[in-house]
Amino acid sequence: MTSSDLWTEDDAEHYDDLSAEKFDPNVLGPTVDFLARLAGSGPALEFAIGTGRVAVPLAARGVPVAGIELSQPMADRVRRKMTEADLPVVVGDMATATVPGSFSLVYVVYNSIGNLRTQDEQVECFRNAARHLAPGGRFVIELWVPGIRRFPPGQAAVPFEVADHHVGFDTYDMVTQQGTSHHYRRFADGRTSYGYSNFRYIWPAECDLMARLAGLEFEQRVADWDGSPFTSDSESHVSVWRKPLDG
Ligand SMILES: C[S@@+](CC[C@H](N)C(=O)[O-])C[C@H]1O[C@@H](n2cnc3c(N)ncnc32)[C@H](O)[C@@H]1O
Repeated sequence: MTSSDLWTEDDAEHYDDLSAEKFDPNVLGPTVDFLARLAGSGPALEFAIGTGRVAVPLAARGVPVAGIELSQPMADRVRRKMTEADLPVVVGDMATATVPGSFSLVYVVYNSIGNLRTQDEQVECFRNAARHLAPGGRFVIELWVPGIRRFPPGQAAVPFEVADHHVGFDTYDMVTQQGTSHHYRRFADGRTSYGYSNFRYIWPAECDLMARLAGLEFEQRVADWDGSPFTSDSESHVSVWRKPLDG
């Protein structure tokens, strides 16, 4: 049993359109370059593969890719893009589900580890990555840095986009590290919608400890897929841990 929200048919139907900026070649190109470099000749495994935004172009680069995805409707979207033989997907929980094989790269991007809403499950996700890695293989996470420094005393929410078509803001519980992203959208035909997603936020240092619990060694942390230095002002990180050769 997972604590993750289950992404619905409606979520899957609109995911690629609503995430259009994440499909921009300026975003996706460096992402795939970074992962392809670490995968070498592969194979690679994506946790929370979604509709295959990253996995499909990575596979097109010649890296064999497999995926784990909790939501059947999201996994069905991968199937519309590539066959099961070319990009196999196991429908299950990234903290526990298994995929046959041993991988040179396991990765979870776009803040998706936060969908696991307990610390125990997030640790299990690291352990599951380690179990799937060949000795010397890498686990990569792309994750935002919790924006709690933006909270003036007494303020309950942090906006991350305020535009005509979308108002998005996060609310946090500092005690439990639980958060909710709220999205109010207005579409071209005048319709409006409200949607939300729940998450547990993690600091980079907590990720390092989870990696250590899973038997992985820290290798590098950068601020983004272009390799910009990670600083105290960075709002996101791409972190890499390695399974020891004798692990
Ligand atoms: C923000 S989307 C990211 C999808 C894809 N990785 C991408 O970058 O476009 C988050 C995905 O995580 C999936 N997810 C949430 N909890 C999960 C879990 N416990 N195990 C596997 N997938 C999960 C959701 O169904 C959704 O497809």
